[in-house]
Amino acid sequence: MTQPLRVAVTGAAGQIGYSLVFRIASGEMLGPDQPVILQLLELPVAVDAARGVAMELTDCAFPLLAGVEVTSDPNEGFKDADVVMLVGSKPRGPGMLRSDLIRENGPIFVGQGKAIDAHASADAKVIVVGNPCNTNCLIAAAQATRIPKKNFTAMTRLDQNRAVGQLSEKAQVAAAEISNMLIWGNHSPTMVPDTNHATISGASVGSAVDAGWLADEFDGTVRTRGKAIINARGKSSAASAASAAIDHIHDWFLGTGDNSYVSMAVPSNGAYGVPEGLIFSFPCRVTGPWEYEIVEGLELSAAVQERLQATIDELVEERATVQEML
Ligand code: NAD
Ligand code: LMR
Repeated sequence: MTQPLRVAVTGAAGQIGYSLVFRIASGEMLGPDQPVILQLLELPVAVDAARGVAMELTDCAFPLLAGVEVTSDPNEGFKDADVVMLVGSKPRGPGMLRSDLIRENGPIFVGQGKAIDAHASADAKVIVVGNPCNTNCLIAAAQATRIPKKNFTAMTRLDQNRAVGQLSEKAQVAAAEISNMLIWGNHSPTMVPDTNHATISGASVGSAVDAGWLADEFDGTVRTRGKAIINARGKSSAASAASAAIDHIHDWFLGTGDNSYVSMAVPSNGAYGVPEGLIFSFPCRVTGPWEYEIVEGLELSAAVQERLQATIDELVEERATVQEML
């Protein structure tokens, strides 16, 4: 019998949490042979709501769900966790930038980073979803003395998936036909969606979709999709964010099956001139269960190269803003 993996989810009673935990328990994230124990962490004010979520999880009778624990104590919530999904934090509302959340959300990741380092599995894998996710991840990783920094990642998979969704609609092909769509940098409007290495049914993107649309609409749609969802829904994306978090962890654990790249915000090793340590979205190749490497040596177009600098500069500025939390 395969030992269950312990998955800690913060903000489990929130919008994303409610879309996320049932899919983890059903096996969509870690595969159909991997039992899981869910450790749901919520603020004291929402811990009863999280208990309700746990009751519903029980009521689903998922064959792979080996237990559910609910707590408002981070030391308990992260205890022995193999996978840590940091969702719990404030979302932005209409008219706000994600970076406006930094002062309020940043401190959450100091305490949680320390609790993870002290109590989670020594090789725990962490994804930060709460915004601004790259810099919150930087804060959490800065607390790590025992867990490797490389295990701290932030989510730009939603941006990758959004780009794939746009290409799939435009080219009228299934999303699965699209490979190596890249997102560089920050999960913010400075992100750089890069189609230069992507293919649609094996052909270059430029040969499969209208060049004018690609230049004028595609890029802006991807970079500002979060805001467009907030304007339409009155609340930030939730089901698509949960789905992207599932994809991020699924591919990190189980691979992509075809040697393709995935976009993950990970600690920079200096590749492509990105300052070491910044949590930056790079093309990553999964080389084994829970093993990834930054894909180096890709040729960058002049336009991408120029825009990389803007997203680097923004992350350097965010890092300076939270200096006292690092
Ligand atoms: P939400 O308000 O619906 O839920 C957040 C939950 O987190 C709440 O239940 C709250 O009680 C809980 N929480 C707050 N602080 C906590 C703490 N310190 N410990 C444990 N739980 C805590 O918000 P949401 O829509 O689920 O969004 C959560 C975060 O995810 C936001 O910061 C949002 O901006 C971000 N987000 C990121 C992406 C991405 O692509 N990276 C996509 C969508 C949303
Ligand atoms: C998103 O991209 O949907 C999230 O980061 C939420 C937001 O504030 O845009």
